[in-house]
Amino acid sequence: MNVEAKQGTETKQIRTFDPNKVPRSEEFPEVELPEPPYDIEVGCGAGYHSIQYANRFPNHTMIAIERTHKRFAKFLSRIHGNKMGKNLIPIHSDALIWIVHHIPPKSVGRYFFLYPNPFPKNRRWYTMPFMQFVIESLQDGGTISMATNIKEHHLEAKKYFQHHWNLTLEEDRKVESGEEPRTHFEKKYLERGEDCWNLMAAKPVGWSAEDCTAPTPHPH
Ligand SMILES: C[S@@+](CC[C@H](N)C(=O)[O-])C[C@H]1O[C@@H](n2cnc3c(N)ncnc32)[C@H](O)[C@@H]1O
Repeated sequence: MNVEAKQGTETKQIRTFDPNKVPRSEEFPEVELPEPPYDIEVGCGAGYHSIQYANRFPNHTMIAIERTHKRFAKFLSRIHGNKMGKNLIPIHSDALIWIVHHIPPKSVGRYFFLYPNPFPKNRRWYTMPFMQFVIESLQDGGTISMATNIKEHHLEAKKYFQHHWNLTLEEDRKVESGEEPRTHFEKKYLERGEDCWNLMAAKPVGWSAEDCTAPTPHPH
């Protein structure tokens, strides 16, 4: 099917998220979190964006989560090389499990999901029940940014953010080839001449998970 043709408003039903069913990992890294609010990057890779962000916003606490040993090790060595302040907190863990067990409701100002691909079709973050927890953990007006080089994912994420999760779309744009890349993958894709897109969606005041559980009615 043509990508543009999938731009309708219909989304699949997503089951209600139950955080009690997420097992507590034995291997959580020990970390002392400051008081909220937090900004969180999920799948930060070698940490280019998180490091720039924490330097740019010294008053924000940036929690950057990466699950692979190899990328996390690169991230740590960059942190040491850049002599980072305490406002950058690197976490080596699966982001879903760590967030569920550490992040309270309404404590996050901004989430970043930057180039989370590749991931299996049925494990796109915006179609996962976990997204309910993510939105519940956002402050009113808090935002979720998602970047991808896959147009189908961009259009699908936009549809889910607006029509399933009832978020307010604040940004929907193509990343320009002359722009300073924000991440390692963005740099790689732009250098290859690939298109990249960025979405930012905000949690409206009065947002309720209950309003998201009913299947979206078919527009016709
Ligand atoms: C394509 S890379 C992008 C890395 C970085 N955001 C960038 O743009 O340069 C996706 C990253 O997400 C990480 N990742 C995927 N699922 C994750 C999860 N559940 N928890 C933590 N990291 C995850 C992968 O290990 C990988 O490093």
